[in-house]
Amino acid sequence: MKQYKIGLLRGDGIGPEIVDSAVRVLKAVGEKFDLSFTFTPYLIGGAAIDACGQPLPEETVKGCLASDSVLLGAVGGPKWDTLPGHLRPEKALLGIRAAMGLFTNLRPAKLYPALKDDCPLRADIVANGFDIMIVRELTGGIYFGERGYREGKYGEEAYDTESYSRMEIERIVRVAFETARKRRKKLTSIDKANVLETSRLWRKIVHEIAAEYTDVEVSDMLVDNAAMQLVKNPSQFDVIVTSNMFGDILSDEASQITGSIGMLPSASLSGETRGLYEPIHGSAPDIAGQNKANPIATVLSAAMMLLYAFNESAAADAIVNAVDKVLNAGYRTADLRGGENALSTVEMTDKIIENL
Ligand code: IPM
Ligand code: MG
Repeated sequence: MKQYKIGLLRGDGIGPEIVDSAVRVLKAVGEKFDLSFTFTPYLIGGAAIDACGQPLPEETVKGCLASDSVLLGAVGGPKWDTLPGHLRPEKALLGIRAAMGLFTNLRPAKLYPALKDDCPLRADIVANGFDIMIVRELTGGIYFGERGYREGKYGEEAYDTESYSRMEIERIVRVAFETARKRRKKLTSIDKANVLETSRLWRKIVHEIAAEYTDVEVSDMLVDNAAMQLVKNPSQFDVIVTSNMFGDILSDEASQITGSIGMLPSASLSGETRGLYEPIHGSAPDIAGQNKANPIATVLSAAMMLLYAFNESAAADAIVNAVDKVLNAGYRTADLRGGENALSTVEMTDKIIENL
């Protein structure tokens, strides 16, 4: 029996509930496919601040680096919103991404036929559905640039800076071309090259690397236009590659047109570790502890882990197919317009397990 050590970062808000759902699904799929998982929880975010005064304890970093793979829920909440930037729960998320070298963030956004009516776009716009893979750079750009406060021309001033090195751009762009090659061979690189120097370097490097991937059709798109195109004609996109912040924003937009942000999983990868897997949504403090959250994004993140970290594609497919079946059978959580018949987090998890 194959054995995998999974680190669990439950985090805050709905994090613990949805991670527990994914753990139940992994255990169930493990029984079917003869895989054995051990799960070790580590503190992160607000929960870690409460327990030991810092959002990302050293033990957590060590534990994650020693795990075969890591599953994360979400961090943050109103309780910790007034802390200084370096002590905020979100800082831990950036910290663990950096510590594990997770420069690639894959965020697949596709429209499930069963959720067509949950999509806020007109039926004719999504008649052909859409299936987009957002490749977001995750350890550079303005998220990690120099920031601070200073005295400026008009008094108190805050600043954040964006910088990208050739190395950082080259490696993420290569991942995107490789990803496109395995899909529909269409890559859209999104930037703001009409204004930003970082974007002009980004674009130049995309064009250089394109010469090595003549089988992939590549085009550039300005980010403001991309925001518009995503709602105007989402089916034009196959693979998108973009910077950390643009990817953050566009992936939320893409999630909303799938019906709910509660649907989108993600895989954060480096060349060396087996990565970290997390839903793209946040900790939803307003519904925390109420057994209402949609566990699907986290369950699908576990499926991505099986595929990308462990190469267990049959087990990964089993989870994806189970989610399909449950949605096709009409089961919904509250975020998916479940209304009075909405399933709870635990009930939705039960349904997925029944359909494995
Ligand atoms: C995400 C989140 C995080 C990000 C926050 C919580 C720091 O929005 O994973 O998309 O901006 O990367
Ligand atoms: Mg985000």
